Amino acid sequence: MKIPSHVAIIMDGNGRWALERGLPRSKGHQAGIKTFEKILKKSVEMGVRCLTVYAFSTENWKRPAAEINFLMNLFQETIMNHIDELCEKKIRLKVIGRREGLPANIIKTINKAEEKTRDNRKCQVNIAFNYGGRAEIIDVCRKIVSDYKNEQLIDEELINKYLYDDNFPDVELLIRTGGEKRLSNFLLWQSAYAELYFSDKYWPDFDEKEFEKAIEVFKKRNRRFGGLPEEGEK
Ligand code: IPE
Ligand code: IPE
Ligand code: MG
Repeated sequence: MKIPSHVAIIMDGNGRWALERGLPRSKGHQAGIKTFEKILKKSVEMGVRCLTVYAFSTENWKRPAAEINFLMNLFQETIMNHIDELCEKKIRLKVIGRREGLPANIIKTINKAEEKTRDNRKCQVNIAFNYGGRAEIIDVCRKIVSDYKNEQLIDEELINKYLYDDNFPDVELLIRTGGEKRLSNFLLWQSAYAELYFSDKYWPDFDEKEFEKAIEVFKKRNRRFGGLPEEGEK
């Protein structure tokens, strides 16, 4: 099988990585940025068309204010520092999630990055920030109800068009690092037929080799989508 067109990653385990080293959790988040840079580069090299990463969930507001502030600043800084490079490498950046509730300076940065990279076509990177799968489905419903009067028009294709990102709705491979085996409200609609891959590595320890391993496992999977195996497959 081919390289997955859309890979989604739940980048989990930053806090535990840091605590095991006697460091504050914030150091784990910082180290996680380095992994994100490596994996983005590797995905582009391997020909993945879309990479979606989970950076901050609608549930992460439950964390202490100091950690939330740290994550907000880190996100803002990371985007600012990467805009030029993304443009050079022809990577389009999108931030998926609820804009309401985010500080005004962050919204400004997001708009700027999206605007500057909008015509890049080599690869798309979606950062899920203040993202929740349920919130997204609610937002889709709200928009459809205000735009359409006829419920017969609502089908999968229409819902795909109303998602936060309508370019790559179907996730083909979903990776979660950090050992937990759950979705934590990530891409509920888009992952309906995703192949799931769990790694025990904490996100800061995940690297190009681990990513390649996940892709190799994906390639061997037999995807049936509710149908029957293809000729020659079991
Ligand atoms: C994932 O790492 C990053 C975010 C949720 C922002 P965690 O911060 O959840 O790290 P662990 O799971 O506590 O180790
Ligand atoms: C999921 O990780 C969210 C992100 C990676 C941004 P969490 O650490 O928040 O998820 P739970 O709490 O283990 O489900
Ligand atoms: Mg976690």
